[in-house]
Amino acid sequence: MSRNAYIVGTGHKVPDGVLTNADLEKIVDTTDEWITTRTGIKERRKTDDDTATSDLVAVAVEKAMKDAGWKPEDVQGIIVGTVTPDYCFPSTAALVADRLGLGTVPAYDFEAGCTAFIYGLVQAKAFIESGMMDRIIVVGADCLTKITNWNDRTSCILFGDGAGAVAVSSEGPGGRLGGWHWGSDGSLGKHLIQPGGGARRPASHETVDLIEHTIHMDGSRIFKHAVRAMRDSCMKALEKDGTEKKDVDLLISHQANLRIIDATARALELKPEQVYINIQKYGNTSAASIPMALDEAMRDGTISTPNTVVLAAFGAGLTWGGMILHWDE
Ligand code: ACO
Repeated sequence: MSRNAYIVGTGHKVPDGVLTNADLEKIVDTTDEWITTRTGIKERRKTDDDTATSDLVAVAVEKAMKDAGWKPEDVQGIIVGTVTPDYCFPSTAALVADRLGLGTVPAYDFEAGCTAFIYGLVQAKAFIESGMMDRIIVVGADCLTKITNWNDRTSCILFGDGAGAVAVSSEGPGGRLGGWHWGSDGSLGKHLIQPGGGARRPASHETVDLIEHTIHMDGSRIFKHAVRAMRDSCMKALEKDGTEKKDVDLLISHQANLRIIDATARALELKPEQVYINIQKYGNTSAASIPMALDEAMRDGTISTPNTVVLAAFGAGLTWGGMILHWDE
């Protein structure tokens, strides 16, 4: 009998600190009106100096495990998609596994920018459907405010911090992981990059002086690519799933820009109430945005049974991806 993978628990965590558009007006030459109309963002959450990605991840994972009814010994692995790990190494996943008493389970981080959560779900699906694992935690988490250039008004207004986690099991009921699509194009990588701190440009006084340890982004180029990549990912994932556009109940897209989300919704011919949007509260939380929105949509009753949900994302790499989730009767 063929095996399936199901999301059986969700959780998320954002820091308490709120940074509003009015706060940003005091830092850079911008306005609430510009940010709201160009991005849909009203406020975002920002970690304090003592809080790092693993602190948010640990809470999100605890909540997802509680939601799934899992004890630490039930977890067979944890994977964390992030571009802002606490350290280059050890991995955030290993730190959290230790903190939550998950024992010696496999634990690793992986990087696919804002698409990381979908990449993580594809990995979990493969592990579970192949019989390699029965229960795994998948996390998307980032603290982009830690690598934001607060003098760059074209990017600093976009980002917020957060973590979202799901418990994925071989046993339902839950959100069955269906058709998917994932891809990348490294030739465009330079348009969304943190140039300093890696093996190419190790940290030095020069890399600090040149502000290379923050996000460098060509926003309008990314924007155009994002619209096309998200639309294509959705269509290819639907095709692989054997599902038609008219049977989609809800879109949960990466929350990067309201105009990008709207374009994806138009491609799927969805009504406004079929599109989950929380960008106004959190901004772009990178890898965390989809699992955070998924958790909120589960808890506020937006997702019910039966439901077919489309996930779609794009991000640094450049990367993109889509996945169909089914809450079957
Ligand atoms: N406030 C006021 N004016 C601004 C601001 C600001 N914060 N930022 C830019 N402007 C100005 C520009 O200087 C420009 O002025 P000009 O016409 O006089 O030259 C004008 O507004 C228009 O600028 P554009 O860059 O064309 O604005 P656009 O409509 O493209 O919006 C934005 C910019 C919001 C960045 C958009 O391009 C976008 O969302 N891109 C996608 C970004 C993204 O999601 N990246 C993923 C990153 S995260 C990850 O993967 C880790």
